[in-house]
Amino acid sequence: MSSRREFLTGGLVITGVVMAPRAIAFGKAGKGDVSTNEDLMREHGVLKRVLLCYDEIIHRIDTGETFPPESVRDGATIIRNFIEQYHEKLEEQHLFPRFRKANMLVDLVNALETQHTAGRKVTERILASKGSDADDKRALQHDLKAFVRMYAPHEAREDTVLFPALHQIVSPHEYDALGEEFETIERKTFGGDGFEMYRDKVAAIEKTLGIYDLAQFTPT
Ligand SMILES: [Fe+2]
Ligand SMILES: [Fe+2]
Repeated sequence: MSSRREFLTGGLVITGVVMAPRAIAFGKAGKGDVSTNEDLMREHGVLKRVLLCYDEIIHRIDTGETFPPESVRDGATIIRNFIEQYHEKLEEQHLFPRFRKANMLVDLVNALETQHTAGRKVTERILASKGSDADDKRALQHDLKAFVRMYAPHEAREDTVLFPALHQIVSPHEYDALGEEFETIERKTFGGDGFEMYRDKVAAIEKTLGIYDLAQFTPT
């Protein structure tokens, strides 16, 4: 526990100690105690589930199986509305400038931001895809693969390097305030709990693709 705390805070053990009781004492209305990083990381969970839908579609194109065309459109719409226009905006407006100002992880931040821009172009193509003939399906598969290839490491790097380092550059008070601000933006953007809305949307796509039931993936 203490070694993890030291890792997160770069030795400033007090940061980790003070944060948790504050979150409990001043718990946020509506959402409970969702901290800044938990908020961003569970959004990554929704992103990962869309990537898994994309993987299933990639596989079906390989094997010549059919897939519901709306699974592509609905998945890419989640990416555009929840990830690109909301989650990534939070990173670009509230995290990246703080890291640049602190002169910390700047190369990583630059690479992440370049990937956001590149990802939006791929999503545009996925949304425009007709997938009606073999050539369209091949082009779609190419874009889905490129998207998964980039975003799996992208989100994993943010989860394990960028977000933990946030504790080193903001005070516990600023960290809490950021979480509050994220919640306000979320409610304003989606008219409610955007995370829950989009978690349900991705679950619906998983059901149409037959990958919702978790137990099917347990090795026997
Ligand atoms: Fe990102
Ligand atoms: Fe992210």
